[in-house]
Amino acid sequence: MAQNSQSDKKFRLLDDRGELISELPVFAGALGFEVVDVRHLLDKAGYCTFDPSFGSTASCRSTITYIDGDKGILLHRGYPIDQLAEKSTYLEVAFLLLFGDLPNANELAQFGKDITYHTMVHEQLTRFYAGFPREAHPMAILSAVVSALSAFYPDSTDIFDPEQRLLSIHRLIAKMPTIAAMAYKNSVGQPFVYPQNHLDYSSNFLNMMFAVPAETYKVNPVFAKAINALLIVQADHEQNASTSTVRTVGSTRANPFASISAGIAALWGPLHGGANEAVLAMLEQIGDKKNISEFIKRAKDKNDSFRLMGFGHRVYKSYDPRARVMQKICDEVLHEVGADNDPLLALARELERIALADDYFVERKLYPNVDFYSGIVQRAIGIPVKMFTALFAIARTAGWLAQWKEMIEDPDQRIARPRQLYCGESPRDYVALEERKSLTDTAAKVHRPMPSEPAIVGH
Ligand code: ACO
Repeated sequence: MAQNSQSDKKFRLLDDRGELISELPVFAGALGFEVVDVRHLLDKAGYCTFDPSFGSTASCRSTITYIDGDKGILLHRGYPIDQLAEKSTYLEVAFLLLFGDLPNANELAQFGKDITYHTMVHEQLTRFYAGFPREAHPMAILSAVVSALSAFYPDSTDIFDPEQRLLSIHRLIAKMPTIAAMAYKNSVGQPFVYPQNHLDYSSNFLNMMFAVPAETYKVNPVFAKAINALLIVQADHEQNASTSTVRTVGSTRANPFASISAGIAALWGPLHGGANEAVLAMLEQIGDKKNISEFIKRAKDKNDSFRLMGFGHRVYKSYDPRARVMQKICDEVLHEVGADNDPLLALARELERIALADDYFVERKLYPNVDFYSGIVQRAIGIPVKMFTALFAIARTAGWLAQWKEMIEDPDQRIARPRQLYCGESPRDYVALEERKSLTDTAAKVHRPMPSEPAIVGH
């Protein structure tokens, strides 16, 4: 855990008469903004902070990932994402996220062995798949099967035993590609392909996805390299929605399989990991360069729910560095499949060019995010659109587990329990059944809008 980084600086919170409400300590991070410590504001001064969606709230200390959204910087344990994506394997990055530094040759060999030892799933677990409809979304299967792992591995659910924690970590990183590939095989009616431990992590995934018993399948090294890069750029992204979910669920001392399953559910949404699927659907909907202006117009229209998928980010207010990595990989993969002139890529590039020159996107600092190009890469490799988010979940498992491990090992960690700004009824007497009005009569009252700005107390 990081050293205590409390600075000498203190914030003095005064009321409108200049009376001191509270003195708030300030933490200086190793990089980035300073953080005001409001942990004791409620018990000492009777005030809460209001920050729905946590845009200005640091929910934990962490030493894993640093993002400078204005400069477009993403570092894992200090290493820039583009260097990691170019030079590392996904397992090296997983080790880095989990244990604090890149492994040496012996450590990497041992970690690789620990992971490959656990790539198979319990044979009884394979029967789960028969119960899902063929058209089931792989994310539904993934979150259900990962949660079910806790039933198969009760020997690794004691979160306070470091050895059991490590065993769960190995199992989850090892089994995610197997579980995801099985979901795909089930959807196309092909037999499951067992993991091959002589293959590297990405090649093994491709083999489990595309090999069939009737033919010899040879993994294309360009595809394996692309999957490796894709897994690395999606491996961790500090306290995003799914990671915060994993931490929140884990803070209740739920077992790691349940916590990761919750992360998978959070990742599924189209505003988060589901965006890569949505980008492809959007590009197909736009269809032709001549339609771009109409869709840009719709994206800007506040009365239209359409948004440019793969654009914008809560943290990045400049080009997402992961999108740059994916752009390069995209070129390599499309060249490999002889689709340098792929119309969908040409459409994506033109859409990006037009959006980045448009005042609406410029003023709001909306740039392509990681998902803008990752879907095109996966499509060229032959991965079905429905599997895009499942691949993201495989990648993010390393980050979720590193964050979960850090949280369990953090002595400051308590159960996550936010407060609220209550905007409902004042105390009132119970109304007998025969005297109650129908909800439609009282609808205006029941559904009254929330105050969007808090009252300015004292005026
Ligand atoms: N298209 C059009 N307008 C947009 C877009 C977009 N993709 N993204 C943001 N905006 C606009 C909003 O309407 C808002 O405009 P306003 O200030 O006039 O009201 C402004 O930009 C700020 O947007 P917010 O929604 O407040 O930004 P927030 O940080 O809450 O949302 C998010 C970030 C969810 C990623 C958003 O940009 C979005 O919906 N993007 C599309 C979905 C997407 O690509 N998600 C993947 C994110 S990366 C990941 O999770 C791996």
